Amino acid sequence: MIPTLEWLPEGVNFLDQTKLPLEETYVLATDYKQVATVIRDMIVRGAMAIGVSGAMGVALGIQQSKAETLSELSAEVDEICAHLASTRPTAVNLFWGIDRVHDLYNSLAATKTPIPEIKAAVVALALEMYDEDIANCRQLGAHGAELMPQQGTVLTHCNAGALAACGYGSALGVIRAAIERGHKIDVFADETRPYLQGARLTAWELMKDGIPTTVLCDNMAAHLMKKGRIQAVIVGADRIAANGDTANKIGTYGVSILAKEHGIPFYVAAPWATLDLATAHGDLIPIEQRNPRELTHVNGKQMTPDGVSIENPAFDVTPAKYISAIITERGILRAPFEESIAAMALDKVIAAA
Ligand code: MRU
Repeated sequence: MIPTLEWLPEGVNFLDQTKLPLEETYVLATDYKQVATVIRDMIVRGAMAIGVSGAMGVALGIQQSKAETLSELSAEVDEICAHLASTRPTAVNLFWGIDRVHDLYNSLAATKTPIPEIKAAVVALALEMYDEDIANCRQLGAHGAELMPQQGTVLTHCNAGALAACGYGSALGVIRAAIERGHKIDVFADETRPYLQGARLTAWELMKDGIPTTVLCDNMAAHLMKKGRIQAVIVGADRIAANGDTANKIGTYGVSILAKEHGIPFYVAAPWATLDLATAHGDLIPIEQRNPRELTHVNGKQMTPDGVSIENPAFDVTPAKYISAIITERGILRAPFEESIAAMALDKVIAAA
């Protein structure tokens, strides 16, 4: 399994995704501020991976605190959470991860649990969330496998694989699960400008697993769809609004329109933690703007004239009407998404009661 991130006695160890595919090196974050830097600089990236990284960052900050009273510690925990939450705005999993550890802290602090016990409990939760991510991806993979063609080529955009999670992946998890069940699938990986998650990361991890992979430029999908060379599209998600509108890597929206035009199913695969029921529709999802240098330079080499103006939104929103199904570990959601999402959320509440 690809070790995207790992909790170690001395901190959190991250596979440096900025160096892939040419170098397999690790960055050890020894305090929560370093975890925040690793997230902001995209050494770790992908919604599920940054969710668990955020949780581990909070746990690390609490574990290393020198506070002697709960009121001192509570003030520190607020600061730790705010610092980690300021790193990237779009993937809701980051806030979900931070809040889950923060909520546990608050409930233990409210009952005056001794500080050493709190420290052990928050670390245990962060480790549990790591295992849960892998289990959820395997489960959603099992649900989604049946939607994959028995034989054919599936297009994916960005990297929604082991590297974007804790080791199996959402969109690529579905592809892995289908192949484990005997489907004969080839993958087209959009290169995914400007950060090249497809060319660098998806291609790297699929080749490691021996899954036949071809990298495409982002502008080739229409041509290949028209030629009948793509049987399905599957992508991950950074945030899914209550009506099914889905934020994912910039360029996903365009691919969804192309798929609709060519009658090709367009699937979104994401753990339930990516659903943001508090956000009614996609226009309300904050879109991260990243450094123009990601566009102006490739491998340190300038590609654009000095001083030209640059747009660099890292994500776009695919309207629910272009999505054939949303695959989660709880099951498969179909249109009308507003209703199917609300019903699945309710089922969980009833099951927990
Ligand atoms: O900017 P990134 O590389 O963090 O963006 C990642 C994506 O857009 C993925 O497709 C998304 O997180 C889904 S996979 C968990």
